[in-house]
Amino acid sequence: MNGKVALVTGGSRGIGAATAVRLAQEGADVAITYVRAKEAAEDVVRRIEALGRRALALCADAGDAAEAAGVVDRAVEALGRLDVLVNNAGVGLLGPLESLSLADVDRVLAVNVRGVFVTSQVAAPRMARGGRIITIGSCMTQRVPGPGGTLYATSKSALAGLTKALARELGGRGITANLVHPGPVDTDMNPADGPYAPAQAGATAVGRYGSPEEVASMVAYLARREAAYVTGAELSVDGGHAA
Ligand SMILES: NC(=O)c1ccc[n+]([C@@H]2O[C@H](COP(=O)([O-])OP(=O)(O)OC[C@H]3O[C@@H](n4cnc5c(N)ncnc54)[C@H](OP(=O)(O)O)[C@@H]3O)[C@@H](O)[C@H]2O)c1
Repeated sequence: MNGKVALVTGGSRGIGAATAVRLAQEGADVAITYVRAKEAAEDVVRRIEALGRRALALCADAGDAAEAAGVVDRAVEALGRLDVLVNNAGVGLLGPLESLSLADVDRVLAVNVRGVFVTSQVAAPRMARGGRIITIGSCMTQRVPGPGGTLYATSKSALAGLTKALARELGGRGITANLVHPGPVDTDMNPADGPYAPAQAGATAVGRYGSPEEVASMVAYLARREAAYVTGAELSVDGGHAA
């Protein structure tokens, strides 16, 4: 990926941070976004720069439509082009149906769906042939293993329709769009030593949590030239959660 530029939303921690570093290891310059964890974002920038690549951390709330749209031009301005967009920023709000407020619904849909839509909408015209839009969904779009997932599963399921439609719209320009569904992955959002971890690990075929690097590996594959014939696909990295 030498000479390519990637933008990873929510790249300060967890799956996004691992993805940003992995793309840099493959040769890309990388812009990441964050919303709160400035120090963690700067640490990711330092890790990428130590690999000899350029890096940039942009504070931008994916739930704010103007900020979600603006990150693309900020990244292009600083790094010169855009080849790979990884829509990773997301919020996980679980809870009984009756506990979810309208504000909860609006916030989760704004970050997990509208932010992905808007950033992709601005990014696609900036990409040349070979461009890649890779979105992080969730295993909960394919199997909801217990109660409490109504809002989160709704938001992540919307990304399947968006990804397929993007693939159809951009295929003629040589740009692919794919959706990666992680299973339970050990991050701040879903720690492998959390109270719900044993049930989640038990819902996989392999009986364990995944690592952020295991998801980043799939994203890196989709970003490469060799994945040019993979588009509109939903790819699970879920330890068999959907099996
Ligand atoms: N972990 C899992 O088990 C799992 C499973 C399936 C899917 N996923 C999905 O994978 C993605 C990454 O999850 P993760 O587990 O790595 O989460 P995480 O550890 O909580 O990290 C979330 C990242 O997204 C950023 N972020 C959160 N809200 C944002 C917003 N409004 N605007 C911009 N950035 C925002 C955070 O930035 P700050 O550091 O500034 O807060 C952070 O970099 C999410 O889309 C999540 O739904 C995770």
